[in-house]
Amino acid sequence: MTELATDADVETTADEIEIHGPEDFAGMRKAGRLAAECLDMLTAHVAPGVATQELDDLVREMVLDNGALSATIGYRGYRHATCISLNHVICHGIPGPKLLKDSDIMNIDVTVIVDGWHGDTSRMYYAGEPKVKARRLVDTTYEAMMAGINVVKPGATLRDIGAAIQAVGEGQGFSIVRDFCGHGLGKVFHSAPSVVHYAEYKDRWGAVHRAADTEIKAGMFFTIEPMINDGKPDVKVMKDGWTAVSRDKSLSAQFEHSIGVTEDGFEIFTSSPKGLDKPPYN
Ligand code: MF3
Ligand code: CO
Ligand code: CO
Repeated sequence: MTELATDADVETTADEIEIHGPEDFAGMRKAGRLAAECLDMLTAHVAPGVATQELDDLVREMVLDNGALSATIGYRGYRHATCISLNHVICHGIPGPKLLKDSDIMNIDVTVIVDGWHGDTSRMYYAGEPKVKARRLVDTTYEAMMAGINVVKPGATLRDIGAAIQAVGEGQGFSIVRDFCGHGLGKVFHSAPSVVHYAEYKDRWGAVHRAADTEIKAGMFFTIEPMINDGKPDVKVMKDGWTAVSRDKSLSAQFEHSIGVTEDGFEIFTSSPKGLDKPPYN
């Protein structure tokens, strides 16, 4: 996901956002499908005792076997085919030798490039049995992402997406992460617009931040990828420069789809071909 630097990022006007045609949709469909197939493949491998690096290796091999590229390997110095964000890690967790333990929850995020088009998607996974609260956080985050997607159609605004996500997440007593957002994508990994996952919030100095009312138009491509915390929304980035954790160490969850805006709604490019859209997967 894109890091939100300032509110100026949010103020993209609709005419700065690229509009795509039917061939572009076909390209995104292929890229999105491969990314989703990687996440499907992982459902059989996530278990206690597995190292997160092994999961990353499986994705890297699958991407290359399909003649595609990983968009994250080499991206701003990142060296892995996935981000694997465990428990209180919000996003950009780096795969490594650490072994999964029973009741860990994690987000795995994959971005592939097929014929130049980017497919960017993530889901939550459980190692063994999750705690009741963790399952509720994960279910709510999936529901929030889908609520955001379901308002997408020409004439709606980006703020409508944030409002739908915020209503679901906060409605369950959770908090919406504000420092990372969804993004435009296509031939480019991260482009306009910034898609924030709230409509409005007040920061700790009392300043009000409002999502842009940018109009959604047919042919736009972007991701919706809410991160929702069980505690406060505040983020801290670790010394490795990537791993973003919740400051209060509360559990965090995320799902991500890449979508295209159609004449009467949306197309999800990264739906699971196997119907494995949310855990549990067996
Ligand atoms: N896939 C992430 C996103 O949703 C971006 C990851 S960039 C990386 O936009 F370098 F951390 F992999
Ligand atoms: Co993304
Ligand atoms: Co992603």
